[in-house]
Amino acid sequence: MILSLVEVNTYYGTSHVLQDVSLGVAQGDVVALLGRNGVGKTTTLRTIMGLTPPATGGILFNGREVRAEPPWNKAKMGLAYMPDDLRIFSDLTCEENLDIAAYLVKRKGYWDKKKVMDLFPVLAERRGQKGLNMSGGEKKMLSLARALMSNPSVVLLDEASEGLAPMIVRSLAEAIGTIRSHGMTILLADQNLKFCRRVCDRGYIIEKGQIVHEGGMEEIWQDQEVVNKYLAL
Ligand SMILES: Nc1ncnc2c1ncn2[C@@H]1O[C@H](COP(=O)(O)OP(=O)(O)O)[C@@H](O)[C@H]1O
Ligand SMILES: [Mg+2]
Repeated sequence: MILSLVEVNTYYGTSHVLQDVSLGVAQGDVVALLGRNGVGKTTTLRTIMGLTPPATGGILFNGREVRAEPPWNKAKMGLAYMPDDLRIFSDLTCEENLDIAAYLVKRKGYWDKKKVMDLFPVLAERRGQKGLNMSGGEKKMLSLARALMSNPSVVLLDEASEGLAPMIVRSLAEAIGTIRSHGMTILLADQNLKFCRRVCDRGYIIEKGQIVHEGGMEEIWQDQEVVNKYLAL
């Protein structure tokens, strides 16, 4: 496993949000963290990144215990995070947003500005546009491209498909396939089972801060009982 959580407990104040969460992501896999609104998906990604550090439990990255490492160290070690609110600089252009990402964490690898613009041609078309004037879909792509610019080994994506038109979701799924083909490992928190089925090998289902099910993505997709109990709206 390139990334594992071992019985992680995370609190917001006195609210015990993540309860003994354990999960593992193997090198090169695309893994889904599925669950309804408010069950702890974002908190899990924030916990991994160190933005909301866990009270107890282990976080192993490349065989190293990283629980106490601050987010910027984790970024240098090769973890990248696309937050659900994207964090695009609205006053900077699309291209400047990419330049800043590359400047902040300099790791060598396949991805650079040209490669991410080849992956998402719309970013080349919009290179001079301010973040402010980009559409929701364009911002998602820019935010994912920013995560790639640091050449991470593992990328955490929060609600990548949320709010996107079906056609954009399809091209995002294709892009994720391309990203993985260049050796990246991906953990994505998402509510969209269809999207996850398209791009993920395995999945974990989280409910009220606890992992309640894990399995192959196709197995989860076919399991009506699990889908109805934990994922149906
Ligand atoms: N900053 C915060 N302070 C207090 N409670 C929070 C905070 N962020 C999230 N929560 C609570 O933690 C729980 C899990 O939230 P979250 O991880 O955002 O779920 P999800 O991403 O699955 O929708 C929810 O009950 C939510 O209300
Ligand atoms: Mg969330």
